[in-house]
Amino acid sequence: MCGIVGYIGQEDTKEILLNGLEKLEYRGYDSAGIATLHKDGVNVSKVKGRIAALREAVNGNVHATMGIGHTRWATHGAPSRENAHPHQSTTERFTIVHNGVIENYMDVRDQYLTGVELQSETDTEIIVQLIEVLNNDLNDVAAAFRKAVELLTGSYAIALMDSEDSDTIYVAKNKSPLLVGLGDGFKVVASDSMAALHVTDQFLELMDKETVILRRNEVEILDPNGEKVAREPFTAEIDSTDIEKGTYPHFMLKEIDEQPFVIRKIIQEYQNENDEIKLDPEIRAAMKACDRIYIIAAGTSYHAGLLGKQFIEKLANIPVEVHVASEFSYNMPLLSEKPLFVYISQSGETADSRSVLVQTKKLGHPALTVTNVPGSTLSREADYTMHLHAGPEIAVASTKAYTAQMAVLAILAVDSARAKGIDLDFDPMQELGIAANAMEALTDQKEDLETLARDYLSVTRNCFFIGRGIDYYVGLEGSLKLKEISYIQAEGFAGGELKHGTIALIEEGTPVVALATQANVNYSIRGNVQEVEARGANSMIISMKGLDKEGDAFVIPHVHDLLTPLVSVVPLQLISYYAALHRDCDVDKPRNLAKSVTVE
Ligand code: F6R
Repeated sequence: MCGIVGYIGQEDTKEILLNGLEKLEYRGYDSAGIATLHKDGVNVSKVKGRIAALREAVNGNVHATMGIGHTRWATHGAPSRENAHPHQSTTERFTIVHNGVIENYMDVRDQYLTGVELQSETDTEIIVQLIEVLNNDLNDVAAAFRKAVELLTGSYAIALMDSEDSDTIYVAKNKSPLLVGLGDGFKVVASDSMAALHVTDQFLELMDKETVILRRNEVEILDPNGEKVAREPFTAEIDSTDIEKGTYPHFMLKEIDEQPFVIRKIIQEYQNENDEIKLDPEIRAAMKACDRIYIIAAGTSYHAGLLGKQFIEKLANIPVEVHVASEFSYNMPLLSEKPLFVYISQSGETADSRSVLVQTKKLGHPALTVTNVPGSTLSREADYTMHLHAGPEIAVASTKAYTAQMAVLAILAVDSARAKGIDLDFDPMQELGIAANAMEALTDQKEDLETLARDYLSVTRNCFFIGRGIDYYVGLEGSLKLKEISYIQAEGFAGGELKHGTIALIEEGTPVVALATQANVNYSIRGNVQEVEARGANSMIISMKGLDKEGDAFVIPHVHDLLTPLVSVVPLQLISYYAALHRDCDVDKPRNLAKSVTVE
């Protein structure tokens, strides 16, 4: 997590850095800072809090054409001004920003920095102090920088300034994402392209363990052996309006509303002119060749994986296991003979998933990444990628990526079924189109959902989501959405499991949201609702047209059984959104969280 940005050019750097940091705030937002180099030295401004507070703090800073900036999600040391980046070496000659975790920072400190008085609790300060100590010996900043990087283990995206050199930013990367942006007479470096789109759309990808020297008119990339690397730039395809809120009060609401369009885009991208599924033939072959699929993911992506299992097992008849990435690394189950690993990740950067990918690649197993960011680490390191085409997701709580993940997994399942000669009695693209229309109809019923959120959730401390089968998995996602943005303690349960313990928590007025979109369990889930109501629960049934009963709180349009999650999650997303608003929570940037979780 954390986002970094750096600029060296002709313009005043302050606004360019702040603008970039605002775009990176999704990566962490507990403290922020910038450092700019001007003729009298380096000016460091940092604050505990958000970029808006940093803006106030830098008001009046002198003009400078080179600088670096950082927005933080605390790992080593509490969120505070002292621990905020940029960090400086003792003489203040060197200034650094860093995203990642230095695993051996204590060893480096004990071995190289015994006489140095540290100013912060961070692993980052160790890097900048180490560079100063090494430079004292080597008297060559580029060499000291490379040597320092060689001594580090862990993940890092680093930008370093030397107050004695107004024409160079030193850059290094390992495991944490980092791009260099190119322009005439200026260069930028940033954790992602969105942070630099206001100055360029031309970018160079950086590989792990590369170091880079950035000058106004030059970029020099060196491989770990110090050899120069030639690399062609690519054009970022993000439209800058995709990363603006427009007339919406929050990104989350905008992204919920975008879902029908994303599903239609997916249909377009995965269908050829003969209305057949368009898929990399190697993915088709890998699906056909495997005897079991292992889905690895975290959080919302894990919930999409649980539904992906339903699609793949029910349609393509391939056994699927779904695993939480952070558990799988040290608790690997017995694997089948021909496993295929499927990594689901909106960001493509989740460290827990990546660490499993590294392990399974070592074992020689093929890997497919399903991601919204095709150039991301998980995409680059897997054998195959399926793109979600959801456009940038900025709100920390994932919405459109989740429904996109389900749509892409459904397409994969249908394609694998067909490749195996299994006859399906429905047209998947047509059914996805129907689901997209249903989603659109729901986003027009916001007032009803706002009323439900107000009536059921504006004052409660806890809430339960129940469902059976597919609905249970959607309930898990509904509960995650609610807790992460409204801080209500919300839990999802299988309807039949509640009476085995959890029902003890139901008391007068406890809200229980029940999903009833599956014909085969409609009767039993309604029975579970009776059980909680008999114990005082304030229940709300969300059902599907055709299965609905008088008194249901909300009815979604009828869609194909397997695709109900794409639609039934929309009211849950909107209820969470309005509950968070009623409780005065920061919807897009909930406390303690970050969008891209790049630490294990
Ligand atoms: C919740 C949420 C997280 C992410 C999880 C995995 O709204 O967004 O639970 O789903 O951190 O992230 P990705 O999908 O980027 O691997």
